[in-house]
Amino acid sequence: MALDLRDRIAGRLRNLMTAAPEKGHRQATVLAVASNKGGVGKTTTAVTLAIALQRLGARVLLIDLDPQAHVSAALRVSPNASISDVFNGKLRDVCEATYPSAWDELDLAGSEKTLAETEVMIAAKIGKELLLDGALAVARTRYDLIVIDCPPNLGTLTLNALCAADHLLVPTDMSVLALEGVSDILTAVDTLRTRLGRKLAVCGIVATRFDKRTTHLNTAIEQSFADLYGTSVRILDTRIPQSSLVNKAHLAGESILDHAPTSPAAIAYKALALEVAPLIGLERLESRRTRPGGNALDATEPFVPEAVHAKVGQAG
Ligand SMILES: Nc1ncnc2c1ncn2[C@@H]1O[C@H](COP(=O)(O)OP(=O)(O)OP(=O)(O)O)[C@@H](O)[C@H]1O
Ligand SMILES: [Mg+2]
Repeated sequence: MALDLRDRIAGRLRNLMTAAPEKGHRQATVLAVASNKGGVGKTTTAVTLAIALQRLGARVLLIDLDPQAHVSAALRVSPNASISDVFNGKLRDVCEATYPSAWDELDLAGSEKTLAETEVMIAAKIGKELLLDGALAVARTRYDLIVIDCPPNLGTLTLNALCAADHLLVPTDMSVLALEGVSDILTAVDTLRTRLGRKLAVCGIVATRFDKRTTHLNTAIEQSFADLYGTSVRILDTRIPQSSLVNKAHLAGESILDHAPTSPAAIAYKALALEVAPLIGLERLESRRTRPGGNALDATEPFVPEAVHAKVGQAG
């Protein structure tokens, strides 16, 4: 604890001696991608959505808040700054912990294994859930969108993401256990709204690793979900199909959008970007789909093919 105090004083002195980070002129919307169930495609969704929305014209920051550091692994980058330093007070703002990716207009703020220790250290702090929110003040002015990939639990790091976020996207596979995970995180959102007054909006549930052949199971799960939540939270129209190409892209350190751009999974992720953009206040990106530079999504591409958007129950 004494070491923590010394670190904090050293951080404060450093902050006093260095200029405050300069503000930009943007106003980012913050999207947390979270579920307390592991392996449901949170990281794949956060990374691919960040790249797809960057290609639609947004300036994006992708924050890896998982000590497993899967974002860095998926994109084959080594962080040169640590998001831990934001939580332990050595850095003032997340924008001081960012580094560029291989994509224009997409920056990363990385995690590393020490983030797990940092989470333990901040656990006893009053207001520990609000540390990230406070450290996004300048970062928000430099980006259009900040995407946060969360660890598979409802610990302090995920709560920080939920308190900092304007919107929440919950990936889930169509299994009973995964949907129980959805229910847990939605309960946490309710608590944050009522007890901490957060204004977090649930953008939707996205079905990942979707197998349209298991029609009956999909229908049953979707029906139970509708019974439970009515229209207050909905499963998004875009389903991300189960595809071995997603794993292959992962192994190659590439996004599915580059690895297999015409595959159903890549097309589904482009469709998801188009479905999510207006839900999180990025509708203006729609008009930038065909911006010059060859990096935008092809406006003539069938983003929302029947196979992707087919309702559960009608699919198969
Ligand atoms: N649509 C898909 N089809 C097939 N495999 C997928 C799909 N989406 C993700 N995967 C694979 O599933 C595994 C878990 O995915 P991912 O890391 O995105 O999940 P996660 O929810 O972030 O996991 P964790 O809870 O450990 O953080 C990875 O090996 C990934 O390649
Ligand atoms: Mg992950």
